[in-house]
Amino acid sequence: MPKIVFNCPDGSQRIVETRVGSSIMDAGTRSGIPGIVAECGGALACATCHVYVAEQFRDAVGEVGDFEDEMLDDAAAERTEASRLSCQIPMTDALDGVEVTVAPAQ
Ligand code: FES
Repeated sequence: MPKIVFNCPDGSQRIVETRVGSSIMDAGTRSGIPGIVAECGGALACATCHVYVAEQFRDAVGEVGDFEDEMLDDAAAERTEASRLSCQIPMTDALDGVEVTVAPAQ
């Protein structure tokens, strides 16, 4: 199963295995990653699953969707070019080892 490296707001790093097709948000909430709130459960309605994707994985995670783009404008933490909503990133084998930093506020 592919792995996700989470850099948590408390400075800790956690590595989580998840199945292909599961979102990074799903893996984070199931594993109790601090700071992944995911109020809407992945319905693209809350922007509380905001993460920053490490530069080397930005191409692999794909483009920000149009509605995701609008939601990110309302995210609680600063939006950067690394910003994504983690519920919108389904895991693939190609993303094995993807590293994300959880936004400091959601
Ligand atoms: S969990 Fe609500 S937008 Fe991602």
